[in-house]
Amino acid sequence: MSNTAKTVAVLGNGMVGVAVARGVAELGYRVVFGTRDTAGAKTKEALAAVPGAQAASFAQAAKQGDLAFVALPWSGLEEGLRAAGAGNLAGKLVIDASNPLDFSQGVPRLAIGHVDSAGERVQDLLPEAKVVKAFNTITAAHMVHPKLPDGTPDMFIAGNDDGAKAEVSDLLRAFGWRAPIDMGDVTASRLLEALAMLWISYGFRNDHWSHGFSLLGQKR
Ligand SMILES: NC(=O)c1ccc[n+]([C@@H]2O[C@H](COP(=O)([O-])OP(=O)(O)OC[C@H]3O[C@@H](n4cnc5c(N)ncnc54)[C@H](OP(=O)(O)O)[C@@H]3O)[C@@H](O)[C@H]2O)c1
Repeated sequence: MSNTAKTVAVLGNGMVGVAVARGVAELGYRVVFGTRDTAGAKTKEALAAVPGAQAASFAQAAKQGDLAFVALPWSGLEEGLRAAGAGNLAGKLVIDASNPLDFSQGVPRLAIGHVDSAGERVQDLLPEAKVVKAFNTITAAHMVHPKLPDGTPDMFIAGNDDGAKAEVSDLLRAFGWRAPIDMGDVTASRLLEALAMLWISYGFRNDHWSHGFSLLGQKR
């Protein structure tokens, strides 16, 4: 199937949702945002930012999507995915960019970790989907065409399905990334989300948000 025949359900229309939607739209995919307010101001902004995109309920978007992006905050992850419906995403690639952030103390911290992760929660909520954790260790502004002053950063991914990870790898390359670094099954989301916390902590300490990770000396 060519990109032009594929629909990407982007679940969430905030910073990440709009960034990845623009990226896939540039590549020729059709975009449908899943939102709880199809007529709201934020949805209108998202539609204006992504030419050709449409908006629908979470369930309708999930049903229409050949693949989906999870661009929801931790506080709305379960609600958004339950609204999307596990059945509507069964058998499909679901790319999870979320981080389980708790903002209750001001500066965010991980709400869960070490023995659990948002990636695993997404897989649990969507048991028949092929969940791949990706895009959570870089700012939305650099998810597509990730050129930083020191070069191209690396993307770490995790998930249970090798075919789904290969599809994400193709998408990342099309966005301008090098081949991603596969850290294993979805439980490795624990590491990717901790890495995101390092990224966030550096951002707060330095009031600087355009950094990224690179793994030097990789096995070739
Ligand atoms: N921002 C970044 O640079 C970045 C980078 C890497 C990873 N992430 C992660 O990516 C995810 C999205 O981040 P973001 O910055 O795009 O967030 P955002 O701008 O706050 O957008 C969040 C989206 O989720 C929706 N939402 C919130 N609560 C919901 C609920 N209870 N039910 C259904 N939908 C709900 C919002 O819809 P409404 O408008 O209806 O509230 C909005 O569309 C987060 O997990 C974040 O940690 C962010």
